[in-house]
Amino acid sequence: MRKIAVMNQKGGVGKTTTSVNLAAGLALRGRRVCLLDLDPQAHASLHVGVEIAGDTPTVYHTFAGTKTLAQVRRLVGPNLWLIPSNLDLAAAELELADTVGRELILREATAEMLAHEPYDYLIMDCPPSLGVLTINALTTADEVFIPLQPHFLALHGLSKLLETTALVTRRLNRRLKVSGVVLCMYETGTRLAVDVAEDLADFLSQSDRDAPWSTARIFQTRIRRNIKLAEAPSFGRSIFDYAPKCPGSLDYLGLVDEVLVMEQPAVLPLRMAG
Ligand SMILES: Nc1ncnc2c1ncn2[C@@H]1O[C@H](COP(=O)(O)OP(=O)(O)O)[C@@H](O)[C@H]1O
Ligand SMILES: [Mg+2]
Repeated sequence: MRKIAVMNQKGGVGKTTTSVNLAAGLALRGRRVCLLDLDPQAHASLHVGVEIAGDTPTVYHTFAGTKTLAQVRRLVGPNLWLIPSNLDLAAAELELADTVGRELILREATAEMLAHEPYDYLIMDCPPSLGVLTINALTTADEVFIPLQPHFLALHGLSKLLETTALVTRRLNRRLKVSGVVLCMYETGTRLAVDVAEDLADFLSQSDRDAPWSTARIFQTRIRRNIKLAEAPSFGRSIFDYAPKCPGSLDYLGLVDEVLVMEQPAVLPLRMAG
């Protein structure tokens, strides 16, 4: 089983779009996937058609210690489960300020869920910060995927992000590796996009062997800018449901297949669900 945190402290870089469509695509390929929404904005939940009303339990209740993840998660499609979020989660940061071991709440809750329910993938959509929710994702994960929008400040902020993963690796989770960077909202044919990708490749190739990102790849598949990807969330559908033939759908399927090839041992050929 793979536990992947989709992380970048910048907003609007493609975290949620990547989390949801990666999760949906892996489910389409026959994997059992649990998508965990860790952003109080709850965009991932909305993207798969779930809007939380009233007292419906969310991942907030797991952080508060009143519900297990198994009591919160729900089936949202073939092979696809969601642990939803809502705005209540914004309070978690403050409420947990005095809680000892707050960085490990999600790891314990996840271990408890996985003891009873086998998933092939846990995909965590992180909020745009390096606060306690993101740290919880990093202590739970084995892998980090970083969505990056290749514009001229793209690499700015990356060192802070990587430092955070290094700190978590040292203190809380030795297994953690940054396994890949996903170039999102890619403008094909622009010099800038190519330059940023090259700078990033240089940076990664020069990294210290002990750094958690020393084996990170830039995924071959570039996620091109495609309006259908921006439309799909308002219909509560993944790109594969909303517009299966559009470039955005093809790009995310390409990414899904790259992610599947990384599985150890390789379990090709791939089959379509449903
Ligand atoms: N490849 C893309 N092409 C066009 N729009 C995109 C693409 N990826 C994301 N978007 C849109 O850009 C905005 C930010 O993306 P999102 O995934 O929500 O970023 P984050 O979760 O990092 O804040 C959203 O409105 C989303 O629909
Ligand atoms: Mg988001």
